[in-house]
Amino acid sequence: MPSVPPIRTVEHRNLLPNVRSVIAVASCKGGVGKSTVSANLAVALAGTGAAVGLLDADIYGPSIHIMMGVNTPPPMANGKIVPTDRHGIRFMSIGLIANEQTPVVWRGPLVGQMIQKFMVEVAWGELDFLVIDMPPGTGDASLTLVQSASVSGAIIVTTPQDVALEDVRRGVEMFRKLNVPVLGVVENMSYFSCPCCGERTEVFGRGGGEDISGRFNIPLLGRLPINPAIREGGDAGRPIVVSVPDSEEAETFRRMAKGIRDQVMAKK
Ligand SMILES: Nc1ncnc2c1ncn2[C@@H]1O[C@H](COP(=O)(O)OP(=O)(O)OP(=O)(O)O)[C@@H](O)[C@H]1O
Ligand SMILES: [Mg+2]
Repeated sequence: MPSVPPIRTVEHRNLLPNVRSVIAVASCKGGVGKSTVSANLAVALAGTGAAVGLLDADIYGPSIHIMMGVNTPPPMANGKIVPTDRHGIRFMSIGLIANEQTPVVWRGPLVGQMIQKFMVEVAWGELDFLVIDMPPGTGDASLTLVQSASVSGAIIVTTPQDVALEDVRRGVEMFRKLNVPVLGVVENMSYFSCPCCGERTEVFGRGGGEDISGRFNIPLLGRLPINPAIREGGDAGRPIVVSVPDSEEAETFRRMAKGIRDQVMAKK
């Protein structure tokens, strides 16, 4: 029986010719920390000396503008949107140009079309990395992404519960079908360290990320604890790599950023 060809062979254009590496940050479930990881990784990548952009592709639930601490619409120049400079990166989020009162219809009929608009109509300039905060779930957005740009790799964010395994499996399979290498898994909200005695509580169970990494043969890029400073930093527009740069979490993000940079460079 003939094997099913990869979907990517259907149609492919590169709408981001000046971007060296596009990195998609994805998860099948919502609320696991994609935007937090995207924002911190993007800033940490910039800290390695790279030119970095961050695109909020979560059209219906944008949050990157909040995590970057900006609420002013971006200016236009030569008919294009100028991405906003913040914390050493440039970013674009629909949250900058729409607010909660903006009807969803205005936001475009298809998530995919909006993602393409953000590739073509934003003056990204030359970038080493464009980190894309994907909407939750598999499907349309990812397909559009791989058809519109050359994606160097995907990072899957998960929480450590056993039930999350199935979600990750779907994510890994989808990216593999799309011929996008999965660079690794980030296990978020892995444990809580008591601020008084430092004792670790594995709130959602243990070993999910390691299990995933072994089972699907992909690296576990890092484990991040539940830490109120991560949420506070996100809400205040200062990702933890900026707000508490000497924290263990900031160090984890910097280590992940270097690992991702090295992985991507090695493939070029
Ligand atoms: N390790 C952590 N410790 C504490 N709070 C966290 C941590 N990771 C994320 N959060 C907080 O949890 C909430 C959800 O995180 P985030 O918005 O990054 O998830 P998401 O996967 O992007 O969600 P969505 O699917 O809604 O886009 C945010 O308020 C964020 O600040
Ligand atoms: Mg999000």
